Amino acid sequence: MTRLAGKSALITGAARGIGRAFAEAYLREGARVVIADIDAERAAETASQLGDGAFSVHLDVTDQASIDAGLATAIEHVGAIDILINNAAIFSAAPITEITRDDYQRVFDINVSGTLFTLQAIARHMIDTGTKGAIINMASQAGRRGEPLVAVYCATKAAVISLTQSAGLNLIQHGINVNAIAPGVVDGEHWDGVDAFFAKYEGKEPGQKKKEVGDAVPYGRMGTAKDLTGMAVFLASDEAEYIVAQCYNVDGGQWMS
Ligand SMILES: NC(=O)c1ccc[n+]([C@@H]2O[C@H](COP(=O)([O-])OP(=O)(O)OC[C@H]3O[C@@H](n4cnc5c(N)ncnc54)[C@H](O)[C@@H]3O)[C@@H](O)[C@H]2O)c1
Repeated sequence: MTRLAGKSALITGAARGIGRAFAEAYLREGARVVIADIDAERAAETASQLGDGAFSVHLDVTDQASIDAGLATAIEHVGAIDILINNAAIFSAAPITEITRDDYQRVFDINVSGTLFTLQAIARHMIDTGTKGAIINMASQAGRRGEPLVAVYCATKAAVISLTQSAGLNLIQHGINVNAIAPGVVDGEHWDGVDAFFAKYEGKEPGQKKKEVGDAVPYGRMGTAKDLTGMAVFLASDEAEYIVAQCYNVDGGQWMS
């Protein structure tokens, strides 16, 4: 399988979880992959486990100097970047009456500003180098509607869907395709934290929330990171050239839009 042969991809937050699975899939498709993460140690470990074609850089999406330095290092290693996956994000939850300004700011800084300014840096690079690239933003089912205990995270993912539409419409004139993926509930370390949160606020046993959400998925189980890789490869491939500013649900049938 060589649908991404000769291409270079930078994936933020790829030290673990969904981003790591994307990196593995892109390597299988012949791409070179930069694992860009705030957790430099784990990013390096992941890159060395994934082997030839994988490189790691420290990149904090909340810090413009770090985005610029991480991108410059990435280009030194793999040449011009053809594909960006804006995957780094954090989860946060609290009842409306307990949301703090600090938490709100932190989540928006990573999930929204981080997405926009990483996208901007890569878009400038693609325009400067004449690269017809693909940018994929990680949205979420959480961006499709609010949830009683998840106001801030849901709002950040709604913002990611909106930014995808605006950036997609603005950048297609340069041959840069911007689209998004909206996963549902995907098992992994991220969801271990979500489960712990609901255990605290809804008095559930550890693991209970995961079981409930998995049972509620029409497909019959929670998603895995691997369930998302087909869409991530497709959107980065030449086959998706005429798809512009869209957000695709990959969620086992949970959301229709
Ligand atoms: N897991 C799910 O159920 C689910 C559902 C819908 C959407 N998503 C989205 O998919 C993406 C990946 O989720 P995941 O489950 O793999 O999450 P995860 O928490 O397992 O991984 C997130 C990665 O982002 C990195 N990161 C955090 N802050 C960063 C920063 N400032 N700069 C750079 N990297 C940073 C972390 O170190 C980590 O490696 C996220 O955008 C998430 O919102 C996940």
